[in-house]
Amino acid sequence: MNLFYLISAVCFILGLKRLSHPRTARSGNFLAALGMLIAIAATLASSNVLDTNLILIGVGVGSLIGFLFATRVQMTEMPQMVAIFNGLGGAASALIASAEFLSNPNSPYIIVCLSVFIGSLTFTGSFIAFGKLQGIISGRAITFKGQQLFNALIALASLVLILTPNLLASDLMTAFTVIIILALILGIGLTIPIGGADMPVVISLLNSYSGVAAAATGFLIDNQALIISGSLVGASGLILTNIMCKGMNRSLANVIFGAVGAESSSGSSAEGKEMNIKSYSTTEAAMILDAAEKIIIVPGYGLAVAQAQHITREVADTLESKGKKVYYAIHPVAGRMPGHMNVLLAEANVSYDLLKDLDEINPEFEDCDVALILGANDVVNPAARHDQSSPIYGMPILNVDKSKTVIINKRSMNPGFAGVQNELFGYDNSIMVFGDAKDMLNSLLKEIKEL
Ligand code: TAP
Repeated sequence: MNLFYLISAVCFILGLKRLSHPRTARSGNFLAALGMLIAIAATLASSNVLDTNLILIGVGVGSLIGFLFATRVQMTEMPQMVAIFNGLGGAASALIASAEFLSNPNSPYIIVCLSVFIGSLTFTGSFIAFGKLQGIISGRAITFKGQQLFNALIALASLVLILTPNLLASDLMTAFTVIIILALILGIGLTIPIGGADMPVVISLLNSYSGVAAAATGFLIDNQALIISGSLVGASGLILTNIMCKGMNRSLANVIFGAVGAESSSGSSAEGKEMNIKSYSTTEAAMILDAAEKIIIVPGYGLAVAQAQHITREVADTLESKGKKVYYAIHPVAGRMPGHMNVLLAEANVSYDLLKDLDEINPEFEDCDVALILGANDVVNPAARHDQSSPIYGMPILNVDKSKTVIINKRSMNPGFAGVQNELFGYDNSIMVFGDAKDMLNSLLKEIKEL
């Protein structure tokens, strides 16, 4: 069996490696799924599994749910799906560890508790993240006085119950039950203060937690495949968290101790201020683009909502055919999931060479004629550079305001995910072209072709 686990581990590692580039990501995903299939088949073929019928029912129901999710969920709802899957992964680890503890009195108590603690915390934390992304719970930081202390006390009490249960509880069963309750509360306590634009960090961190919970459960039931896959998820989740932290300019300690965004829910200086908004038609925007030589397109979440990736490419191709240089600026947290804009534009076969990340494209705005913002908001808000009262203060942004002209397309003056108004819209070099991105680009394309 270990040979099969080794093969599945190789598949996971090669799959992860291939996932790191859009060109090879599809085959990487397939390889990792194949590895998981091999691991599951090897486990089922081992001697001491439960009732086979029960397992087949589980596989059937799970596959059906997975199929429905994969085919029905919109691209824009992917992050919510990832949050739910993280939560369910944590819950599964906690349930397996609990079953082991209840059926085997000799199971190692500390490992049981670690698995149950991290799994339960991931479960509630992920469902709060889901609620925030889905708009069921306010996306702003929810804070109360003494919150840090409250979380710290829960964490401390849990630690004592895990390491020296007799100190706080009469027996192991009571300690075990209290740990589950405390972990469920801590998951909520750590996630509700995270607001504004900081959700990418917490989602990748919860992803990492679900891997650590699975690895702990693997140690408990002595399953190498679970240990390896859990460790890989834990480590890759942590690497992604680090990338997201860099993208948001937050420290990891800031995230782990639940302080992210908590101190800054008051709003930005653009809030309530009069802005000089200049609304242009697509005809006028087309004329500005026609006169430009260098154009940088900035896609954001609204582009994904409008599903306007194909028409964006058509507009870019037409501009290029007129001799203009066109690039795409990709912010690491644009959209609602890591790599969202890369995936979206890859769907429309936009060449990877034209996609430029933050560090590469920012110096280019200085001599750019037009920055064309399509459904992006928080990632181009200059308040992040100078307004300390803004929830996005400190987040590196795309410096679109340095361009000669900034054309912004969105449907209204509504704010983006962070819930703050964008002062860029009132800048002298900014013009707004209101409307759904797909409709606007369709008419823009017509106008550009006619010029
Ligand atoms: P946002 O700041 O969320 O802004 C999106 C804009 O798109 C909105 O202002 C909206 O304005 C506009 N929009 C919506 N539908 C549209 C449509 N059909 N046509 C045209 N415009 C449309 O997006 P962003 O700039 O990409 O920033 C991402 C935000 O999400 C950041 O705050 C980030 O931290 C957060 N976040 C990111 C992730 C990851 S991992 N990427 C995960 C969770 C949260 P109207 O309603 O006026 O049209």
